[in-house]
Amino acid sequence: MSLRKLVAGNWKMNGLRISLGELAPIGRAATAAKRIDVAICPPFTLVAQAAANADGIAIGGQDCHFATTGAYTGYISADMLTDAGASHVIVGHSERRSANHETDADVRAKAEAAMEAGLVAILCIGETDKQRDAGRAGLAVASQLDGSLPRTATGDTLIIAYEPRWAIGTGRTPSSGEIGEMHKLIRAKLIDILGTEGVRVRILYGGSVTSHNAAEFLSVPDVDGALVGGASLTAAQFVPIIEAAENVSQ
Ligand code: 13P
Repeated sequence: MSLRKLVAGNWKMNGLRISLGELAPIGRAATAAKRIDVAICPPFTLVAQAAANADGIAIGGQDCHFATTGAYTGYISADMLTDAGASHVIVGHSERRSANHETDADVRAKAEAAMEAGLVAILCIGETDKQRDAGRAGLAVASQLDGSLPRTATGDTLIIAYEPRWAIGTGRTPSSGEIGEMHKLIRAKLIDILGTEGVRVRILYGGSVTSHNAAEFLSVPDVDGALVGGASLTAAQFVPIIEAAENVSQ
């Protein structure tokens, strides 16, 4: 089964108000691309303004807390993101798993909070280079998925992003064959855990996606979209990725 692809941009800690000017051309490309969905996850400070101005683009946060409210200085809840106009949120990004020591249990609680607040959770998983070199990439990813996936997830409320840590921001990527192998494994695991609903959960690939490799990666079976970092910061780089996704979605 072929799922509707999602091309999502993760701006990470990049973007000032002036950067929102990129959204107009991205929105035009997104509106023209009828067969796919497009999302941008700007930093928190820009979410409300982006959501108010984004035409044809879903807006997401980059993280949320597992609690709804409380004494958690500096954190943002899923409800706050919904209130600001977001429809999606990234949880468990490897930069947070490593820098903030987020565990699979933390990530699962965040994904549950996101779903509870009516957001679509984009749940990130991916192996380190050490795990891949040791031939344990599949095991590592399966175990992360098992530990962080909410059992109530559906194809409408959750998306997986497979992002090998060693491919993020490095310009190094797995081969299409390796991506296909991992997405197949993730699909099997999703079906194992969620039953038939696992067939409907989209699986994005992320890690050094550019306009040069997007068409190739997005043609791989079970690659239902891309989570793009650096190449999502400007319309000039991101629009060709949107167009590539549309073109392979015949
Ligand atoms: P890059 O596309 O910059 O490698 O980042 C990928 C990523 O981490 C998206 O969440």
